Amino acid sequence: MANELCRGIPENITEALVFWTRNSYQHAEMMIEFYEGSEAAVEDYFRDELYRLLEVFRTLSERAQQEGLSFAQERMLMNDYTVANYDFLTMMNRLKFEGINGYPYLMMLLNHIIYEQRYTNGIFSYAGAQNNNYIYGQSEAPSNCLYAVLYFFSIINAQHPSILLTIEPFTEAITEELMRELIGLINAFNEINFRLSSLGNNVSDDALLLILEDFQQENRNLLSVLERILNAAPGVYRNGFAPEELPSIFYMITQHFIEEQQLAEQIEA
Ligand SMILES: [Fe+2]
Repeated sequence: MANELCRGIPENITEALVFWTRNSYQHAEMMIEFYEGSEAAVEDYFRDELYRLLEVFRTLSERAQQEGLSFAQERMLMNDYTVANYDFLTMMNRLKFEGINGYPYLMMLLNHIIYEQRYTNGIFSYAGAQNNNYIYGQSEAPSNCLYAVLYFFSIINAQHPSILLTIEPFTEAITEELMRELIGLINAFNEINFRLSSLGNNVSDDALLLILEDFQQENRNLLSVLERILNAAPGVYRNGFAPEELPSIFYMITQHFIEEQQLAEQIEA
């Protein structure tokens, strides 16, 4: 259950490790592909560190997928992941202002990855879950687990369409209807977070349930849009075909978003 993930230690540690080690590996890969295809003059330090961490996350992901991990192995893996994540976040926070500052589409992706990596700190260490505004938003009653996952997943869901829209060959080729649909979804997730924060310290179960229902509906809507995009379904591209100039990373990113939103489908009251 996705809402177990914000309690410090997830119920099923192996499952969470399998998901997030692979997800982190993809983040490093996405970042490399994005900046290498850009004009940004990124220092060797960042490239070396990204490639090193790509390898670290790949190894962690393989370890997480081994059958029958013992309790001790799980704990060790969690610890190693936390160390790698710390290095990743440290480097990414520097990259933000010392490598890709001034490149809006790179910044969009980088911010997104930073949010998610910070969230995983909250999953795998109780200390990391505290004082984490990326998880708890502006609520005065931040201990509610459902609130926290809804806030987090609405942040990243609002960003999923916006990241795709930073890829020019995609944005230039899509239909007006799809563009409107994507913008509507971005606004819907921002609104969900505004509603969450507006609860102030009146975070009642009833209020959260209503927001959860809306979140689930919008999450399904966005998932179906992403699947249509992935398959270049009718209504996605004006001329009916995906443009050839679309970078291969585009499909990987879309699939990555789908997997995150499938995880968000498991959020429950
Ligand atoms: Fe992600």
